[in-house]
Amino acid sequence: MFSRFDLTGKVFVVTGGSQGLGLSMAEGLVEAGGTVHCLDIQPEPSDNFKTAKERINPDFGGGLEYHQVDVSDAEGLETVVGRIADQKQRLDGLIAAAAIQHISPALEYSTDDIRKMLDVNYIGVFLSARTCARQMHKYKIPGSICLIASMSGLIANRGLIAPVYNSSKAAVIQLARNLAMEWGRKQPDGTGGIRVNALSPGHILTPMVEENFRKGEADPKEWEDNNMLGRISRPEEFKGAGVFLLSNASSYMTGQNLVVDGGTSAW
Ligand SMILES: NC(=O)c1ccc[n+]([C@@H]2O[C@H](COP(=O)([O-])OP(=O)(O)OC[C@H]3O[C@@H](n4cnc5c(N)ncnc54)[C@H](O)[C@@H]3O)[C@@H](O)[C@H]2O)c1
Repeated sequence: MFSRFDLTGKVFVVTGGSQGLGLSMAEGLVEAGGTVHCLDIQPEPSDNFKTAKERINPDFGGGLEYHQVDVSDAEGLETVVGRIADQKQRLDGLIAAAAIQHISPALEYSTDDIRKMLDVNYIGVFLSARTCARQMHKYKIPGSICLIASMSGLIANRGLIAPVYNSSKAAVIQLARNLAMEWGRKQPDGTGGIRVNALSPGHILTPMVEENFRKGEADPKEWEDNNMLGRISRPEEFKGAGVFLLSNASSYMTGQNLVVDGGTSAW
C-alpha cells in the first residue's frame, strides 16, 4: 500500500552528515527507503557514520554515501551536488545540518570569529539550499528542504553564551520563510513546488555538545533543568521529524519552523 512516508527511490543530501544530528536524520531517511548523500568538511566520515552504514538493513532499499565538501565553498558544493543529482536525474531533498559553535561573550568576540561563524552557519546553509534547489529545478523535482536552525534562534538560551551562533540560527529560520515563498509555486515550465521549512531542536547530546561540556562551557544539569522533560535529547529523537519534513507526510507545510525542544521555549 502507498505510504506517504515512503522515500524509496528518492535521493537526498544531508550536510554535516558525518556525525551528530545530521547523521541520525540521514539514517532516518535511509530507514524510510531513501538514498542519502552525507556532505561534511571532515576528510573521512566519523566512526559512527561507518557503523551506521554497516547496520543499514538491505530491505530498506536505500543507501548512505559520503562526500567531503565545505558548505561555505559554493563551487565545491555545485560540483558535488550536481554529480549526485545527475546519477539518478533527481534530487528530492536536503537537510542542511552543517554548523559550528563558538562560545564567547559578545564583548570579546573577534571580528574574524564572527565572520567564520556566519560563513558556515548562515552562508553555508544558504549555499546548500541554493545549490540543491538548482538541481531540483533542473530535474523538475518538487523537493523538500529542511534547514536546521535551533531553539537558540527563538529565545535567549540560558546557559549558552553564544551570541553569533544564536543569531545565525534566527537568520536560518527567516531564510526558510523567504526561500519557501520564492520556490513554492509550480511554474508553467514544471519547475518549483519546492517546500522549505526550518527545524529548531532543543539541546541534543551530540559531539558538538559533548565538547561544550568537556571544556566546561556549559552545565548539563542547567540544560536538563531548562526544559519540561528534565533531560537532554538524543540525536535519534529527530529522525521522525526529518522523515516528516522530507516526505509527503508534510506536503502542505512550508515556510514554517518546527520546534522540537522538550518544551524549553514554551515556558
Ligand atoms: N546539539 C545541539 O544541542 C543542537 C541544538 C540545536 C540545533 N543544533 C544544530 O544541529 C546541527 C548539527 O549539530 P550537531 O550538534 O550534530 O553538531 P556536530 O558538531 O556534532 O555536527 C556538525 C557537523 O557539521 C560539520 N561541519 C562543520 N563545518 C562544516 C563545513 N564548513 N562544511 C561541511 N560540514 C561542516 C562537522 O564536521 C560535523 O560533522 C547544527 O546545525 C547545530 O547548530 C544542535
